[in-house]
Amino acid sequence: MSTAAPLAGRVAFITGAARGQGRAEALRLAADGADIIAIDLCDQIDSVPYPLATPDDLAATVKLVEDAGGRIVAVQADVRDEQALRSALQTGVDRFGRLDIVVANAGIAPMQSGPDGWRDVVDVNLTGAHHTVEAAIPIMVAQGAGGSIVLISSAAGLIGVGGGDRGSLGYTAAKHGVVGLMRAYANFLAPHSIRVNTIHPTGVDTPMINNEFTRGWLKHIAEELNAPTDFSNALPVQVIQSEDVANAVAWLVSDQARYITGVTLPVDAGIVNKR
Ligand SMILES: NC(=O)c1ccc[n+]([C@@H]2O[C@H](COP(=O)([O-])OP(=O)(O)OC[C@H]3O[C@@H](n4cnc5c(N)ncnc54)[C@H](O)[C@@H]3O)[C@@H](O)[C@H]2O)c1
Repeated sequence: MSTAAPLAGRVAFITGAARGQGRAEALRLAADGADIIAIDLCDQIDSVPYPLATPDDLAATVKLVEDAGGRIVAVQADVRDEQALRSALQTGVDRFGRLDIVVANAGIAPMQSGPDGWRDVVDVNLTGAHHTVEAAIPIMVAQGAGGSIVLISSAAGLIGVGGGDRGSLGYTAAKHGVVGLMRAYANFLAPHSIRVNTIHPTGVDTPMINNEFTRGWLKHIAEELNAPTDFSNALPVQVIQSEDVANAVAWLVSDQARYITGVTLPVDAGIVNKR
């Protein structure tokens, strides 16, 4: 990678990197010069009705990054398991020697499920983001070179969209919870020059929503009386692409955003403002 690249010499830890937005973020940050530490569960969670990523998906991310000239270490790990996550991150730090950027991206959307869906979505989308930051803090603080942490929330982290099923309520609650986590971390990591922000995408064209179950759920809540069913964006676009989110991540973690911390950044085609 050229030393002129904006993230040259930096190392980025990305969760949920086997596909979707996580893969796009790995590719983009590698193109900007960063070395990538990628983790993904690569397994199924019972309450999630659509297929999660596979080991082949994670291997494909590795190949795409390497084919583009980047460096990547990929490990299968579950963000719900803090020790496994710490050990996966350490594997990457041992290889690349440092850590500058964290993207807590792993997530599930078990929208139509019951109490198990509530528990799982809070465990993965909120507690998993917490574990991801906790694993990174001692390494970044000891390094003493600052850094940037981005937590991928959702438009559903800023507005009360969704249905009345426990999985959907849990998704919206967890994504709002990520904002509280970000605000607290932004304050107490600021003395270490570590910035913490959230990104709030509208619908993104990934396997999380581009599947028969999520399409069925959207139809289901449209039929629920009083459900907030309007998922249309302000800008004339139905869904955005993973690269649109990766572009925002790349900017937020770069020196271009060096004094931006504690911010909730919508990448949402105007859906939040419309509410
Ligand atoms: N797709 C959308 O419309 C949309 C909109 C707003 C926010 N988001 C959020 O964006 C993030 C990325 O989602 P995506 O759209 O790329 O979906 P995706 O399903 O394609 O990717 C999510 C990845 O996270 C991994 N993962 C799930 N549980 C995990 C766990 N316990 N440990 C480690 N990895 C795990 C999955 O295997 C998968 O590879 C998620 O946090 C999601 O909630 C998505």
